[in-house]
Amino acid sequence: MCGIVGYIGYNDTKEVLLNGLEKLEYRGYDSAGIATLNKDGINLFKVKGRIAALRERVDNNVQATMGIGHTRWATHGAPSEDNAHPHQSASGRFTIVHNGVIENFYELRDAYLNDVSLKSETDTEIIVQLIEVLHQKYNDTAEAFRQTVALLKGSYAIGLIDAEDQDTIFVAKNKSPLLVGLGEDFNLVASDAMATLKETDRYLEIHDKEIVIVNRDYAEIQKLDGVAIEREPYIAEIDATDIEKGTYPHFMLKEIDEQPPVIRKIIQEYQDDHDNIKLDPEVRKAMLDSDRVYIIAAGTSYHAGLVGKQFIEKLANVPVEVHIASEFSYNMPLLSEKPLFVFISQSGETADSRSVLVRIKELGHPSLTITNVPGSTLSREANYTLHLHAGPEIAVASTKAYTAQIAVLVILAVDTAQAKGINLEFDPLQELGIVASVMESLTDQKETFEKIAADFFTETRNAFYIGRGMDYFVVQEASLKLKEISYIQAEGFAGGELKHGTIALIEEGTPVIALSTQKNVNYSIRGNVQEVEARGAKTCIISIEGLEQDTDTFVIPHVHELLTPLASVVPMQLLAYYAALHRDCDVDKPRNLAKSVTVE
Ligand code: G6P
Repeated sequence: MCGIVGYIGYNDTKEVLLNGLEKLEYRGYDSAGIATLNKDGINLFKVKGRIAALRERVDNNVQATMGIGHTRWATHGAPSEDNAHPHQSASGRFTIVHNGVIENFYELRDAYLNDVSLKSETDTEIIVQLIEVLHQKYNDTAEAFRQTVALLKGSYAIGLIDAEDQDTIFVAKNKSPLLVGLGEDFNLVASDAMATLKETDRYLEIHDKEIVIVNRDYAEIQKLDGVAIEREPYIAEIDATDIEKGTYPHFMLKEIDEQPPVIRKIIQEYQDDHDNIKLDPEVRKAMLDSDRVYIIAAGTSYHAGLVGKQFIEKLANVPVEVHIASEFSYNMPLLSEKPLFVFISQSGETADSRSVLVRIKELGHPSLTITNVPGSTLSREANYTLHLHAGPEIAVASTKAYTAQIAVLVILAVDTAQAKGINLEFDPLQELGIVASVMESLTDQKETFEKIAADFFTETRNAFYIGRGMDYFVVQEASLKLKEISYIQAEGFAGGELKHGTIALIEEGTPVIALSTQKNVNYSIRGNVQEVEARGAKTCIISIEGLEQDTDTFVIPHVHELLTPLASVVPMQLLAYYAALHRDCDVDKPRNLAKSVTVE
């Protein structure tokens, strides 16, 4: 949530800040701003809306060699120009950008800021006003900054500039992501390396409760008490072309099309020279040592977890519970004796998942993160990591990360099964290869899905997806996709459960999409279709080769029955994509959402 960029060097900073913010828009995009500093003082530009609007607002005549920028996903205070970052202290001397939530901001306001009249409704403004108040006491910006940061409770990634110091950006971090990028004659600050890849691939990790003093020629990491810390930079291994749309109209469509190569990449990464599965032996040991796996995730990753549970239970014979991260802390189940916690997270930054990780670490339980971003918080803080190898996912609605998560969960389950000596009677890597080809044949039929979407979703206000068994998990993801980007109220339902209440919502013409890829429920899900048709529903059946009937709307080519979610989700993603297009929605940046949710 919210993206931060900072630049300090010898060139003009505007383009670096604006380009960086554009790359971070996936983190939030309801308002944005930049502040630059030159010998005439601070130049502040803010808008309600997107970076494109900010670009128009920024005065091109203003030149400055340092500055900070922010793109916002509102938490405290509605999206507005007043609430947009950067925020300034009363005198205008200090200017700040912040990502996170300051939990004790009322307390700080009441304790220190009674004489200050606040200009915004944000928790962020409290920080910058507090810095000014403490500066009156210490008469030193670094000290006032450190003292302020020490008072903050909650999550923060902060960039601060002092109008009387053109040589420093003050940086602090706790829980929210933030990196320092290192260049020749310049340094950068960014929520995500993707923002500044054009400028550098060398980054310094910042740990929680650290401060960084960033100048043009060096960046010094300090503890909160001012003691310097040495840390080697690392090279961010992201290909800059991966974060461009190329000829695609939307990132989402590009990412849907990237699924077959991602599956092939996963096969390659997790295969040894003898075509067997290759997995970190420590992960294998952790799986073998545990008597129950607890999968913790949010959103689409949670849906991947539901599918993963089936693999781990059915193939490896290990019991699995899947929990929504934000609920786990309040509704913690009775844990088994030897639990293993598996965090599934595309970004590796989801605050709800992280708070569970912090808790279970305190309890001394082992943890594995399955993520697309190996250097992310959840990856660093868990004992083990499995990488998704999906490449950067930019569209807010997750597609290729979901299928990559499922593929890696297959690998994990199969590896555990093999380590336990269980004979699987199928070659998992070969079957995944077949899945990749089937996915390709599905993405080649976009026109078919465009027509179905036009037919079913152009007018409607609501829609239902039904499935049983494995298909039930996929229809939950299918309905989430549709909701997220087309704003159609959609529900993914267990086929048999619909008649226990929700069928009351079926009216003449209500779209119901049924998925049937599982032999043991093929008959019964078709019965559920009959039930809704009898009540006026307009139905679409997506089935799989071997189970198809003449009246089916679309038939997916055959894949191994356990792996059907990898194939059957593709038509669902494409239906949601075209539904959103037909309804003129902003596919890649749907309203109210953000890709990386770093607040609880
Ligand atoms: C947000 C995104 C979803 C994503 C969820 C979990 O809500 O909009 O697309 O599934 O966060 O994110 P994670 O990075 O933990 O997978």
